[in-house]
Amino acid sequence: MAVIHVALAGRAYDVTIEAGLLDDLANRAEPFLRSFGGRAVPFVADKSTHTLYASRVDAALSAAGHSADWFIVEPGESAKSWSVLERLTDWLLTLGVTRSDHVFALGGGVVGDLTGFACAVMKRGCGFVQIPTTLLAQVDSSVGGKTAINTKAGKNLIGAFHQPSAVLIDPLVLNTLPDREMRAGYAEVLKYGLLGDAEFFEWLEANGADVLAREPAALSHAIATSIAAKARIVAEDERETTGVRALLNLGHTFGHALEAETGFSDRLLHGEAVALGMVLAARYSVRRGEMSAADAQRSAAVIAASGLPSEIAALGMECGGARLVDHMRHDKKMEADTLPFLLMKGIGAAYMARDVELADVAEFLDTELNRA
Ligand code: GLY
Repeated sequence: MAVIHVALAGRAYDVTIEAGLLDDLANRAEPFLRSFGGRAVPFVADKSTHTLYASRVDAALSAAGHSADWFIVEPGESAKSWSVLERLTDWLLTLGVTRSDHVFALGGGVVGDLTGFACAVMKRGCGFVQIPTTLLAQVDSSVGGKTAINTKAGKNLIGAFHQPSAVLIDPLVLNTLPDREMRAGYAEVLKYGLLGDAEFFEWLEANGADVLAREPAALSHAIATSIAAKARIVAEDERETTGVRALLNLGHTFGHALEAETGFSDRLLHGEAVALGMVLAARYSVRRGEMSAADAQRSAAVIAASGLPSEIAALGMECGGARLVDHMRHDKKMEADTLPFLLMKGIGAAYMARDVELADVAEFLDTELNRA
């Protein structure tokens, strides 16, 4: 078992990683079940996670004298909407949830973001516990308190910082995760190496195949190292105001443009877009003379070796660099007429550049889109 502390004054919490944790949920979650007495404990899941895990959760709770009540959403981004939020908050009010209660989110990033936001506004803030079931949610979205829904204007534009009271991770749930989603989550693991930990990056170069094959020791090490990195960053800059937390957006500005161009669809999953975005950030850093071509090549090679896309030319997008840059102009990080870019001075050395000319980025992307 590994426990990683997220040291936020007044809002500190632990992330627990333990194989088999789901069957021991009542013990691990005991402090967050106490307030319920005989009342049912609210659990939010999507149809897939409910089918896979509800009976185990019900059994674990019932052995400790509790019962769960389930709110089940459709899988996918459509659940992060005003209408589902309204139904969820109405349901929580009907259950009589109080500010000292905890709502449990069992699922991937969509379930965690939706539940977290509902809890941020429920009676001006009630507790919640994240039980992430995808690699992406385990190493990124469940930790750090970013919660949100989507609107017509874009993804995650309505939300709140609301930290969970605990994050409970059972790596064994990843055994049922489709390989493509596993790889997409792995892109965020690689991100921690690329942005600030060259030694971890080297470890991933050597052990990435074992992580993707869910070899227990390698997988737990990758999850724990990623979360420890995120916990340090979040403790330093919870609300992304000093530039430190923004490092977690490495690959996301380029990636967001690719996701927008492909319609935020299954054609390109978020993690796949981030993988491509990190290759582009590395190559753009080479173009600016800040990163060696050899380091950029290593970054692309480790991404390609893990089965993630590493060349935007292979996506078959019918657009030019200027159109991708137009998507970037709608990025929520856009400030007045500039967009801060996360670039690299080497592997493990990401930094924020505020002097990037979008016209130059468009020219660079034209070259990448036509790369042989
Ligand atoms: N996923 C980026 C962050 O949590 O800040």
